Amino acid sequence: MQQKITRDGFASKFGVLVAAAGSAVGLGNLWRFPYMVGENGGSAFLLIYLFFMIVLCLPVLIAEFVIGRRAQRDVIDAFNVLAPRSAWKGIGIAGLCAALVILGFYCVVGGWTLAYIGKSIFSLPTTLPGDYYAGTFTSLITSPVQPLVWCALFIALNAFVVSSGVKNGIERYSKILMPILFVMIVVLAIRAITLDSDMKGLRFLFQPDFSKVTGATFLAALGQAFFSLSIGMGAMITYGSYIPKDSHLVKTSIGVMSTDMLFSLLAGLAVIPAVFAFGISPAQGPGLVFVIFPEIFSKMPMGYVLEILFFTLLAIAALTSSISLFEVLVAWLVDAKKLSRRVAMACVTVVVGVLSILASLSLGMLPNISLFGKNLFNFFDSFSSNILLPLGGLFICLFVGWRMKPADVRDELTNSGNIRLPLFGCFRFILRYITPIAIAVIFASGMGWLQI
Ligand code: PFF
Repeated sequence: MQQKITRDGFASKFGVLVAAAGSAVGLGNLWRFPYMVGENGGSAFLLIYLFFMIVLCLPVLIAEFVIGRRAQRDVIDAFNVLAPRSAWKGIGIAGLCAALVILGFYCVVGGWTLAYIGKSIFSLPTTLPGDYYAGTFTSLITSPVQPLVWCALFIALNAFVVSSGVKNGIERYSKILMPILFVMIVVLAIRAITLDSDMKGLRFLFQPDFSKVTGATFLAALGQAFFSLSIGMGAMITYGSYIPKDSHLVKTSIGVMSTDMLFSLLAGLAVIPAVFAFGISPAQGPGLVFVIFPEIFSKMPMGYVLEILFFTLLAIAALTSSISLFEVLVAWLVDAKKLSRRVAMACVTVVVGVLSILASLSLGMLPNISLFGKNLFNFFDSFSSNILLPLGGLFICLFVGWRMKPADVRDELTNSGNIRLPLFGCFRFILRYITPIAIAVIFASGMGWLQI
C-alpha cells in the first residue's frame, strides 16, 4: 500500500486565483510585452497575441491544471502517476530545465527592478540630458558587481516566500501583493493616457497594420502569450496540484487568462502612450521601461512618487511570478527527492545563482559567453519563450488529448460530476487537433521551416 502523502496546498478558491494570476502577471506583462509590441509594429501584434491567448493558451492552461490536480504531484511525478513507465515524463524533465533557463535571466531582471527602486528613491529632481538614462541603464547592466548584488537580493526574497510554503508563503503574499499591483497599474495607465493628447500612442496600440506581420511575428506573439501565461513548462501543473478539489478548473483558468490579458493591456496603456507623448521610439528592446520611464517621470508632475511606484510595481510583479518558477523545482525536490522545503530551496538557489551570474556577466564583462550567436541572457530569453514553452505546450495538449483517459479528464473538469460541462467534446477536440496543429504550424513558420 502506498503511504498517503500530506501535501501543502492552497486554502481558498480566491487564493488559487490570485496565486495563479500572480504567476502569470509579471515581467512578461510589464517589461517584455510593451517592448515586444513596440518592436513588432504595435496593434497587429497585440491582436494576434490576444487571439492566441484565447484560442491556444486557454486550452493549454486548463490541460495543465487537469494534469496537476489529477496527479497531485510535482511536474515529473505527475506524468509518472498518470502514465507510468512512459516517455511522457520527458515533458516534466523539459519543464524543470525550462524553469532553470527562465530563472537564469528572470532573476537578473528582477534584480534590475530592485536597483531602480533604489535609484528612484535617490534620484535628482532635475531633468537630465536624454542620453543620461540610457547611459545609467547600460552602466548598471554591464557592471560586474552591482547587478549581481541586486539579483542576490531578489533571489533572497524568493527564498523567503517559497520556504514559507504554499499556503503561508505563496498564497498569503500573492493575496496581499496582487491587489496592490492592480491599483498601481491602473493609476499609471490613466496618467499615461492623459499625457497622450494627440492619441498617437493609442492609435499605435489599437489601429492594426498587418503589413509588417511575418511568420516570426506569429511565433513571437505565441511565445509572448505562453510566457505571459506561465504555461508550457509545468508551473501551472505544479500550482494545479495544490488546487482544492472543489475549485472549478475552467472558471479558474478563464479568470487567470483574463487577469493576465488585462494586465498586459494596462501595461501597454501605461507605457506606449507615454513613450509617444515624449517623442521616443517604442522599438527600444529590453531597456524600454528602464530607460524611458525614468526620463518620462523626470518630466512629469508627481514624477518622483510615480517612479518609485512604477519600479515597486515591477518588482512585486516579478516576485509573484518567479516564486512559481522556483516552486516547480522545489516541489520536485520535496515530492520526489524527499528534501525539506528549506534545503530544497537552498539547492535551487545555488544553481539559479550560478546561471544568473553567467547571464548577467554575458551582458558586460564576459560578452563571449554566448550560444547560437546570442549572449547568454538573450539566449535564455528567446530559447525559453520561442522554443521550450510552445513545444512543452504542444506535448501537454497531446498528453491530455490522446494519452489521458477521457473519463479522467471529464471527472477532473466536472469535479466528479458535481458541475456541468456542456462543451467537453469540443474542448477535447481542440486539445487533440486544433491546438497542437496550430502550435506546430506557427513554430515551423517562425523557425523559417515553413512558408505561409
Ligand atoms: N508569466 C511570467 C511573466 O509574465 O512574467 C513569467 C513566467 C512565470 C513564465 C512562470 C513561466 C513560468 F512558469
